[in-house]
Amino acid sequence: MSETVTLARHGQVAVITIDNPPVNALSHAVRKGIGDCLAEADGDDAIEALVIYCAGRTFIAGADIREFGKPPQSPSLREVLAQLDEFRKPTVAAIHGTALGGGLETALCCHYRVAASSAKLGLPEVRLGLLPGSGGTQRLPRLIGAEHALDMMTGGKPVDPATAMAWGLVDACTDDELLKTAIEFADLKITEKNLPRISERKVANVEAGFFAAYRKKIARRTRGFEAPERIVQCVEAAVSVSFADGMRKERELFRLCRDSSQSAAMRHLFFAERQVARVPDVPKETEVREISKIAVIGAGTMGAGIALSCLDAGLDVAMLDKDRQGLERGRATIEKSLAAAVGKGRISDTQMQARLSRLDLIDDFAALADADLVIEAVFETMAIKEEVFSALDRVCRDGAILASNTSTLDIDRIASATSRPEDVIGLHFFSPANIMKLLEIVRGARTSAEVIASSMRFAKQLSKIGVLVGNCFGFVGNRMLYGYGRENQFLLLEGAAPEYIDQVLTDWGMAMGPNAVGDLAGLDVGYKVRQERTDLPDDPRYYRVADMLAEQGRYGQKTGRGIYLYDNGSRKPIADPEVGEMIRREAERLGVEQREIGGAEIIERCIYALVLEGAKILEEGFALRASDIDVVWANGYGFPRYRGGPMFYADTMGVEKVYDAICGFAERFGPQYWSPSELLARLARDGGTFAELDKE
Ligand code: 3HC
Ligand code: NAI
Repeated sequence: MSETVTLARHGQVAVITIDNPPVNALSHAVRKGIGDCLAEADGDDAIEALVIYCAGRTFIAGADIREFGKPPQSPSLREVLAQLDEFRKPTVAAIHGTALGGGLETALCCHYRVAASSAKLGLPEVRLGLLPGSGGTQRLPRLIGAEHALDMMTGGKPVDPATAMAWGLVDACTDDELLKTAIEFADLKITEKNLPRISERKVANVEAGFFAAYRKKIARRTRGFEAPERIVQCVEAAVSVSFADGMRKERELFRLCRDSSQSAAMRHLFFAERQVARVPDVPKETEVREISKIAVIGAGTMGAGIALSCLDAGLDVAMLDKDRQGLERGRATIEKSLAAAVGKGRISDTQMQARLSRLDLIDDFAALADADLVIEAVFETMAIKEEVFSALDRVCRDGAILASNTSTLDIDRIASATSRPEDVIGLHFFSPANIMKLLEIVRGARTSAEVIASSMRFAKQLSKIGVLVGNCFGFVGNRMLYGYGRENQFLLLEGAAPEYIDQVLTDWGMAMGPNAVGDLAGLDVGYKVRQERTDLPDDPRYYRVADMLAEQGRYGQKTGRGIYLYDNGSRKPIADPEVGEMIRREAERLGVEQREIGGAEIIERCIYALVLEGAKILEEGFALRASDIDVVWANGYGFPRYRGGPMFYADTMGVEKVYDAICGFAERFGPQYWSPSELLARLARDGGTFAELDKE
């Protein structure tokens, strides 16, 4: 018997315990161990029933993702689960923590499932570009019906035991000691004659047209993404063919997913999102400061969103603005958001009240004396930020962390307004701050390791992904956005219609097109930033279309007109022929020749501009890893997860090909924007990849 999987007897009930930290993934050793224990339990007449249980913090969290892409080792999970499915004595899965992927598939091969009331159950394979490949697509619909099963598998979101009980996914749920409850449950089933085997059931009837309607329902959110459609095909098979044929279909489609570039990209992000927490000069043992009392300065769009995010995480928040009106507006924004969450059933009314009770509106800096962390989100003007930080320096206690949410300003200059630059850091949230997962953590020249480690942990407290970046203009995300936006702007002048560019890029997978994003964020915002910058290229074409629209008061959704038109209060963009004509005239004035532009050119110019800037950022040391850049773009800018982020995408295309295209653009459009970075040239020459670079 292996050490990771053991068999112990409790009277007539045997318990198989899996102990494979940290998450009991189904590695080769675990699969073999389960198979061996099943064989032993089968052959032992003194054993009348079996419980499958896990040591540590969780039930099996799935297949071992690190094994994908490596040669398969026997026994496969399918083989082991077939053995479990056919087991002749009652079997019970005792579930705590998270039963995910292959973990839930294991539980579905047991006759019964008993869950701790704090557990979560899910088939999240879709988040890795996969489908459940060990019978999940065939067993889950047989147990809970096609629709719930499809929701769980195409959305990937786990459910709690209360929902699972209501759907028949678990048979019992307990607050008591789980293993004891499961053993007692198994004991009671020893005399059961008809053991329920899911593989022998039929899927409950679905109405004609059900699958067509389901495909339509998920079409928008799964655009260009292969796994969800394949999951639907598997469930169609579960409904229409035998269990064995359904399993064959699942196998075939699972292999296609597993070997696809989409799954490779999503697995890359899975590990990249965990890798970001590792900072070479901030070791794991670095002390972190306790953060429970937050103060937010500035109750505008971002301040209110940040406060909400902290309240959602159970923290106390004091909010301050320069005037009472601003403060009340901020509170109203928070209340409105919470009420909407109650309306959608995401939180209860009691939870809303509890959050509001932790919010304190203050009008005096002196009240910030006991804050653990202050986050400044006032206007984007250096003089105002300096004034705020110097006031904070006077009132905040020793050891308080002083953070700025600036999106463009120099953190070191802000820090120098205080006598404690080691406590100053950038915490760059993304709008809407309570929703977006990304937090750029901007390290100043003197920020201490302790403050960095505490900020990384703070990101986790907020359920966000904190990425440490360096202090350059726009940090990582917005600096790259400039190149992407610039190409969009040039393409407009060269004759591509805004709606065409947006369509091409959303078909490619971006959550929104750049022109719709501009209208959503407000064209006045970028305009103001460009007006204040002194380092912009001397080029009359540079962001000319955006500037022209802003100068005409066409700010976007907020004014009902931007690059698109918006009907009374609607967010749906409508193409405006007048804008096309304005751009045409401007192009003529600037001597830019308009022409027919194909989708491939739009994608290459916009996406390769990201790759090029990303390579420069890496070269200059403003990001720790290429994969950190991918995490920023996947979580802050709607870059399609199934393409893995700009740097992984460059690897997928081949760095040499990307480099050649960039050199081609440099020849065609001039070297001003397209001169390739040294790093890119080196990788192209040596046949290297960004992924290998990260390993160096
Ligand atoms: N395989 C290998 N390693 C895994 C893993 C898995 N399935 N799940 C988690 N890990 C590793 C993480 O990489 C991390 O390693 P590190 O410490 O070296 O960075 C460590 O376990 C802890 O993970 P987290 O930091 O994510 O810990 P959390 O407590 O925040 O979350 C979790 C735990 C909810 C289990 C989360 O890790 C998770 O969602 N894991 C993935 C679950 C999943 O996708 N399962 C399906 C796999 S595919 C499958 O089963 C195919 C089947 O159908 C055939
Ligand atoms: P906003 O204009 O909506 O809010 C700013 C708030 O700060 C106002 O309520 C104002 O009354 C208050 N304020 C101004 N001076 C103050 C002072 N001296 N003391 C206290 N309060 C003061 O601005 P927004 O959009 O919330 O931006 C705030 C900061 O967040 C800026 O630095 C901006 O660059 C940054 N940011 C903005 C993002 C966005 O999408 N809007 C995204 C990420 C960062």
